[in-house]
Amino acid sequence: TSAFTYDPGFTSTASCQSKITYIDGDQGVLLHRGYPISQLAEQSSFMEVCYLLLNGELPKQDELATFSRTISRHTMLHEQLMTFLRGFRRDAHPMAIMCGIVGALSAFYHDSTDITDPQQRMIASHRLIAKMPTIAAMAFKYSVGQPFLYPDNSLSYSANFLRMTFGVPAEPYEVDPAVEKAMDRIFILHADHEQNASTSTVRLAGSSGANPFACIAAGIACLWGPAHGGANEAALNMLREIGTPDRIPHYIERAKDKDDPFRLMGFGHRVYKNYDPRATVMQKTVREVFNALKVTDPVFEVALQLEEMALNDDYFIEKKLFPNVDFYSGVILSAIGFPTSMFTALFALARTVGWIAQWNEMITDPDQKIGRPRQLYTGPTQRDYVPIDRR
Ligand code: CMC
Repeated sequence: TSAFTYDPGFTSTASCQSKITYIDGDQGVLLHRGYPISQLAEQSSFMEVCYLLLNGELPKQDELATFSRTISRHTMLHEQLMTFLRGFRRDAHPMAIMCGIVGALSAFYHDSTDITDPQQRMIASHRLIAKMPTIAAMAFKYSVGQPFLYPDNSLSYSANFLRMTFGVPAEPYEVDPAVEKAMDRIFILHADHEQNASTSTVRLAGSSGANPFACIAAGIACLWGPAHGGANEAALNMLREIGTPDRIPHYIERAKDKDDPFRLMGFGHRVYKNYDPRATVMQKTVREVFNALKVTDPVFEVALQLEEMALNDDYFIEKKLFPNVDFYSGVILSAIGFPTSMFTALFALARTVGWIAQWNEMITDPDQKIGRPRQLYTGPTQRDYVPIDRR
């Protein structure tokens, strides 16, 4: 017997108070600082959402201009970090590179590791938001053997990222406005999601006073798993494996079979027991990107039919399993030209603002203490050491 509440997976423990993001999982509601995600995704920009998450209010025109300029000024990476990156194998997963490079930022921006100085905390936040696209694009360039492209600060956050990823020095790169808009929207849809596993990891790492770069590297590590951010990669791989609508029933049966570890990737959520509002916007965006690029992908039809079949199946109805943010995002990212291995890196890029906003909130919370869960001990009771020749 113990005085502690046993709550594996923290299904009923609030670890903090927060003013940043509100989710009503039964109603399928997601609000950032009070604003519905659908309105932000359709009317706002990622820079504006970053400002909102960090500062609590939507920026006025001049505030947004100043903020965007500030972020632009931090887009470059220390040259030595590129040497560091070149030490990875060419076939390294981009998430492995992201974990390594972001952790290494603490060795390059010493001033920003002083967490007692509010100004330095803000500079660290700006640096992280600004440098993530540069790091993610470099991870991609490295894997395909193309030269790194330096940031172009005359472009928007999303256009700059697309150019660093898909541009080459030999030719001017024209960013398609529809793709730029879709990229920005995907970033908005991933920006924050209250106390998910990676954000909780960032807070827990930060609760010991670790520097922000180290904390975000911890968040990236946690996001990588297929039950979390890795699900977008896993979802598209699954849809491609299914291949044609006639094979869907077989996979639905597998997902329902308790003896088969297979799950429908991009389906189900700890908090949403109703449609994930991000998936609604994401599904609409697939069509917009296809129309703009004049492409299509048979995998989208598989996704639509899989969703319909699952939502009409008793198993999924009873367990309240709906498509989540990761179900349709891969279809869009693939149409834009990203390989599946980059999907989770893009999630990490976009989630950085949420992580750092939550980290800042934690640092300034008067109730903040080191995170230290307790346990229910189930091991042996006390016993005497037995010398090795008598075991
Ligand atoms: N396919 C089939 N069955 C499922 C699925 C699924 N995708 N998700 C949950 N279930 C079943 C599960 O087997 C369990 O059944 P039972 O009660 O009979 O044991 C029940 O539904 C509850 O599942 P759980 O694993 O106890 O629920 P959880 O809240 O711990 O897990 C989840 C949530 C997201 C990890 C889980 O739904 C899952 O593994 N989904 C697939 C991976 C995925 O898409 N992850 C992305 C989540 S959203 C974005 C993000 O966080 O990055």
